Amino acid sequence: MSHWTKDEIKTLNLMRERFLAGNAGTADYWNSDADLVLYERTFAQRIGWKWDAVLSELTLRGWSPPAVKLVDWACGSGIAGRRTLEHWPEAFASVTVTDRSYKARNFAVSRLREKRGDLVVEAGAPEQVDCEGALVLVSHLLTELSEGELRGVLERLNAAAAVIWVESATRDNARRLMSAVRDPLVAGGDWRAVAPCTHSGSCPLQQVEHERHWCHHFARVPSEVHQEEGWRDFSERVGVDLRVLPYTFVVLERGTAGSRAVEGEDGLSRVLGTAREFKGFLKVLSCAKEGVTDWTLQKRDAPETFKALRKWGELPLYRFETQGDRVVKAERSGAKDES
Ligand SMILES: C[S@@+](CC[C@H](N)C(=O)[O-])C[C@H]1O[C@@H](n2cnc3c(N)ncnc32)[C@H](O)[C@@H]1O
Repeated sequence: MSHWTKDEIKTLNLMRERFLAGNAGTADYWNSDADLVLYERTFAQRIGWKWDAVLSELTLRGWSPPAVKLVDWACGSGIAGRRTLEHWPEAFASVTVTDRSYKARNFAVSRLREKRGDLVVEAGAPEQVDCEGALVLVSHLLTELSEGELRGVLERLNAAAAVIWVESATRDNARRLMSAVRDPLVAGGDWRAVAPCTHSGSCPLQQVEHERHWCHHFARVPSEVHQEEGWRDFSERVGVDLRVLPYTFVVLERGTAGSRAVEGEDGLSRVLGTAREFKGFLKVLSCAKEGVTDWTLQKRDAPETFKALRKWGELPLYRFETQGDRVVKAERSGAKDES
């Protein structure tokens, strides 16, 4: 017997087609609370796992929110805000959700009130919400914004204290996130890049020689998901591969480079995507202040790093010592070096 009704599968497929076609921005598509419930049980959970990966990276990098006010921009069912509150339960005094859809705002705000009666929880239309001094979350919005709308959103975000922006890792999304969000804010001089970047120079992946690459990472899907009939059925009937969960993201903070720099980040390389495996060695595309390099990492040079990168379970932030195109020594951020 199927876990989902025929109508539910029809709605989920329609949502997915709309998201993939990149035309979801044309009109409000939340027709009912039932749509939001369905989204929350499926697509939003996957997005939540991406947020878990991003938030845990921020904590591993020693970053914490520089604001007590949280804004979930284009909140949908509100997963980004709720995950952030779970991650930093004590950090915020208020949370505001906004979305062009009042149904989405109402849904998100009532879930938040159920969970966090101790906080000031508010909802407002995007034009009414003040981002000044807030940590603003943006999640899976980019494909729904025209160039003009994106500029409008950036003007609003420019008043914030920090922004965490998470998206699906298509090449277009990842490149647009860096070229139209990260780089313009950082170039203005009032913002610094916190993650995944290891520097606040312009994104080196935008250079012509790196055109085929894009900044993306992989989140962990909880193992129990693969045992659950509901998820298996969703995967088969909506065509969503539950084995891999790529995402792209950027975290920006108001302040010049170094103003609240995470200790010891200088000289660090952030590995992008996954390492590609060959006989006895890996190719590891990494981004650092000096640029993007496709390093060769031989098993015999750094066996522990080789093992860790093959499994991609840990935050791939390293201090590499290199010779030519080879990594000869690797020290993971916050861990002991390996020679
Ligand atoms: C794919 S959903 C993502 C929802 C949520 N952020 C998440 O990650 O699950 C995109 C959301 O953006 C909203 N949206 C689209 N264009 C918008 C705009 N110009 N201003 C505000 N919200 C917008 C939609 O109504 C929808 O709720």
